[in-house]
Amino acid sequence: MLERLEADAEASLSGNTGIALDVLGYGEISTVLRAEGLDGPVAAKRLPAMTGEQLSEYKEILARYLDDLRARGIRPVDSEVFSVGSDPYTPYCVQPLLPLLLVDELRTADRETVDYRVEQLVGIVVGAVDGWLGLDGQISNWGVDGDELLYVDVTTPLLRDASGKDQLDTDLFIASLPWALQGSVRRFLLDEILSHYYDPRAVLLDMAGNLVKERLFQVMEPLLRATNQVLSPPITTDEAMRYYRTDARMWELLQRLRQADRWWQKTARHRVYPFLLPGEIER
Ligand SMILES: Nc1ncnc2c1ncn2[C@@H]1O[C@H](COP(=O)(O)OP(=O)(O)O)[C@@H](O)[C@H]1O
Ligand SMILES: [Mg+2]
Repeated sequence: MLERLEADAEASLSGNTGIALDVLGYGEISTVLRAEGLDGPVAAKRLPAMTGEQLSEYKEILARYLDDLRARGIRPVDSEVFSVGSDPYTPYCVQPLLPLLLVDELRTADRETVDYRVEQLVGIVVGAVDGWLGLDGQISNWGVDGDELLYVDVTTPLLRDASGKDQLDTDLFIASLPWALQGSVRRFLLDEILSHYYDPRAVLLDMAGNLVKERLFQVMEPLLRATNQVLSPPITTDEAMRYYRTDARMWELLQRLRQADRWWQKTARHRVYPFLLPGEIER
């Protein structure tokens, strides 16, 4: 199944427009494709190419991340890493395709359900996130299983050691950035970006700001109210909006740089650009 999927992904990267990939989402390090598994539909998250050593290290840290999430009361979706090809490998993180995502539930939810979910999210973030374990809490990263929430966005295991160093090989994050930029992003930006995921207030601020992108305005006030009952200084709508605008600008800039790099690699260097990039994202 994955060999076929990877063959399609590569054909699409080589410019074959007859291939229709079923893309569920584009992330910072992975592209999420829908595929048919043996036991039903799956979400297959295509990761950057890795050497054998990087791959076994990645599998190990992902397993540790899933364990740590569970130990803190978060249910991650079953996730398994398979790889295609040989050194360098193209790994995929494969999960069952969830029938219901929190974003979709919230779009039509009544006030009571919204209140229930935001209480749950705030409880999870405040109870689980600290300097050692990080979370990207954005609404799009959760699935719904009855009353319970399932965390889907595990491909970037956010674990730091006692000295605050990321356990994941963070070069994987920046592999898709233009080469000339990687050094400065690594030095000046990465640590700062990643730090947000390890701070409950920053995670909730990001979650609130992201509601604008998801057009879930009706969730803003309930989320901030639940947040401000347990955290201070309080987050205001104004702060969430300001944060969103700054954050959106940064990702947009990185995206444009990638697109420019893809153009350069294809036109001037005649290379196959190895990452699947999103089209225009509405922010
Ligand atoms: N197991 C899954 N079932 C259903 N949809 C999924 C699943 N995993 C991911 N998705 C969809 O793909 C999107 C991106 O996946 P995610 O794991 O959050 O990666 P990233 O945010 O890094 O791209 C999610 O927001 C969701 O819409
Ligand atoms: Mg995500």
